Amino acid sequence: AASDPDLVERARKAKAALGERVFVLGHHYQRDEVIQFADVTGDSFKLAQQAAARPEAEFIVFCGVHFMAESADILTGPGQRVVLPDLAAGCSMADMATFDQVEECWEALEEAGLADDVVPVTYMNSSADIKAFCGRHGGVVCTSSNAKRALEWAFEQGKQVLFLPDQHLGRNTAVLEMGMSLEDCVLWNPHRPNDMGKVAGAKMILWKGHCSVHGRFTAESVDDVRARIPGVNVLVHPECRHDVVLKADYVGSTEYIIKTLQAAPAGSSWAIGTELNLVKRLAQMFPDKSVSFLDKTVCYCSTMNRIDLPHLVWALESLALGETVNQITVEADTAHWAKVALDRMLALP
Ligand code: 13P
Ligand code: SF4
Repeated sequence: AASDPDLVERARKAKAALGERVFVLGHHYQRDEVIQFADVTGDSFKLAQQAAARPEAEFIVFCGVHFMAESADILTGPGQRVVLPDLAAGCSMADMATFDQVEECWEALEEAGLADDVVPVTYMNSSADIKAFCGRHGGVVCTSSNAKRALEWAFEQGKQVLFLPDQHLGRNTAVLEMGMSLEDCVLWNPHRPNDMGKVAGAKMILWKGHCSVHGRFTAESVDDVRARIPGVNVLVHPECRHDVVLKADYVGSTEYIIKTLQAAPAGSSWAIGTELNLVKRLAQMFPDKSVSFLDKTVCYCSTMNRIDLPHLVWALESLALGETVNQITVEADTAHWAKVALDRMLALP
């Protein structure tokens, strides 16, 4: 649907009034009505880099989800304020690993005499205190665009990796990109006692978390689309289940997905396994290619979608009137250690 012209005008005016004082970042899963006001769009790695790219901007308006805004707060200067237009824009995957659960897991690894050789690696999709946990324990953050390099780094530091909180990104990277076997991976279930014998024998200890949006794609979705569209290229995000990624032709982050479509020949057909706002945008961006959604059912990320034009207008107009709303601030000690883990990621070769 086209955006409300009155709201578009109000957003434009408020942004113009703020000028260089505001820098708007937009994740690729954001609605079109929001993305049109982003100064920079990107995947979570690019947005983490970009957050620090405009040190003179007083306000960073983050159109994305809570963990991204937290990371932006950690990576920006003390005089900069990060605003999330709707505080309810969380991430169900990030919520699957709480600090207390991760501490309990670590204590169990310590009791089993394993912790000294375990390096914690957390996906960007995690709260700041989980990133800080990784910073304190010699670990690193990764995103879907550098998971392999982060894991290679981690295996130079220790014998085992505790991978948080997305089991699928962990397994897909270990098995499909690094030559490990499924037996090298063991699941850590925070709600059940774990078999420490099995945990001791694994290279990858995978936290039992997942993305419910990408979890909708199944191996049958891939078989169906191949039957429906002869010659189709299947391109999926690594948050998809292992059996889906195994059947796909290409796998990568949202930025990789866009670049792959950009480079594809005219007339080629693509089925994309990721969030629907991005897939719809790809179809508009590349009318010379046939772009379809991998599954038949609708699949938006409901929390990404919480950032809509009314919320963006409210945030920008409030800032223009001198009121900072929905500021995201990470407590100093947590921010310090989370930054240690984030900086290790940003320094990966
Ligand atoms: P990327 O944009 O880094 O590929 O991540 C996708 C995602 O799920 C963000 O929540
Ligand atoms: Fe979280 Fe999945 Fe939404 Fe990404 S798509 S923000 S991982 S729930």
